[in-house]
Amino acid sequence: MRPLVATVDMAALRHNYLLAKRCAPGRHAFAVVKANAYGHGAPQVAEALADLADGFAVACIEEARQVRQVVADARLLLLEGCFEAQEYQEAAQSGLDVVVQDENQAALLLAARLERPLNVWLKLDSGMHRLGFTAEALRECHARLRGSANVAELNLISHFACADERGHSLIDAQLERYSSVLDLAFDNRTLANSAAVLTLPAAHMDWIRPGIMLYGASPFAELSAQTLGLKPVMRLTGRLIAVRDLAPGESVGYGAGWIAERPSRIGTVSCGYADGYPRIAPSGTPLAIRGQRVPLAGRVSMDMLAVDLTDLPDAVLGDEVELWGEQVTIDELATACGTIGYELLTKVTARVPRRYIP
Ligand SMILES: Cc1ncc(COP(=O)(O)O)c(C=O)c1O
Repeated sequence: MRPLVATVDMAALRHNYLLAKRCAPGRHAFAVVKANAYGHGAPQVAEALADLADGFAVACIEEARQVRQVVADARLLLLEGCFEAQEYQEAAQSGLDVVVQDENQAALLLAARLERPLNVWLKLDSGMHRLGFTAEALRECHARLRGSANVAELNLISHFACADERGHSLIDAQLERYSSVLDLAFDNRTLANSAAVLTLPAAHMDWIRPGIMLYGASPFAELSAQTLGLKPVMRLTGRLIAVRDLAPGESVGYGAGWIAERPSRIGTVSCGYADGYPRIAPSGTPLAIRGQRVPLAGRVSMDMLAVDLTDLPDAVLGDEVELWGEQVTIDELATACGTIGYELLTKVTARVPRRYIP
């Protein structure tokens, strides 16, 4: 069996969920498990949080089906709503909460014949300009949906564009636009993603929507997950599957981009870009072996990458290599690659087995 595994720590996941709840006392939380729970496995994550979470949020009905199989009763929110008329039928049958973010979705909902009414989350475009109604259009839609037999709860949702950049002027502008529709009667209101859960109590409303923080990564560039009290959930580990000595001047890997400047010991690790390790990672990006950090050497291949073991003479064939997890945080690797932890976690590919520890 190829020695590469993503170990998912359910105790850490539960710790992070409870931390989110402690940040917003008395509020409910949708655990955001879209994109296969940010790569961690949506059914497994939902099951691990089933007795804790007030609800779950996914992007679309395909994702909701997976989660519904393991949590029969929890509230389950479709963050992008329904894409086709028939999805409203399924949403009603499965007891899903739906976002309604434009006129088209509102019209399909109003025209549907449903076996029971839906909890609807009207989406306000408070400044991200991705989905949602303007304040004016939302007022108008609110009036139409309020009397509809297809609507149970009528709720309000919006999303921050810059909550991860503390002090950004758009944060206050979005809060203000959100507040401007609060004279309307809503059963529930939600606004906060992880960054807002952690730093913007004014945005907590009735339901928070933590995503990335559940998985132990930080939404902030300048605040580490550890500082925030979060525990890493995924640890990606491979093994040293080959070790060789190189003379000065010898090169490593595709493109011969890394050249030994001294007598060097090079290890080959069982992980590559087809597993989700970023090909863009530059030489020098840290990996951890035997508790020590060692630098990536040369280009990442599809199934393997190379590491410079010269300063870790104890390393031997078969040693475990942490690509990310506890010693090399996902955020640190993301920064080295010019991306965010969200992208790396969601891009761990299907061929990497997930191992769950309770
Ligand atoms: C609408 C919505 N709410 C909540 C979240 C969770 O955000 P985060 O992972 O930053 O906590 C997302 C994720 O992008 C989202 O799209």
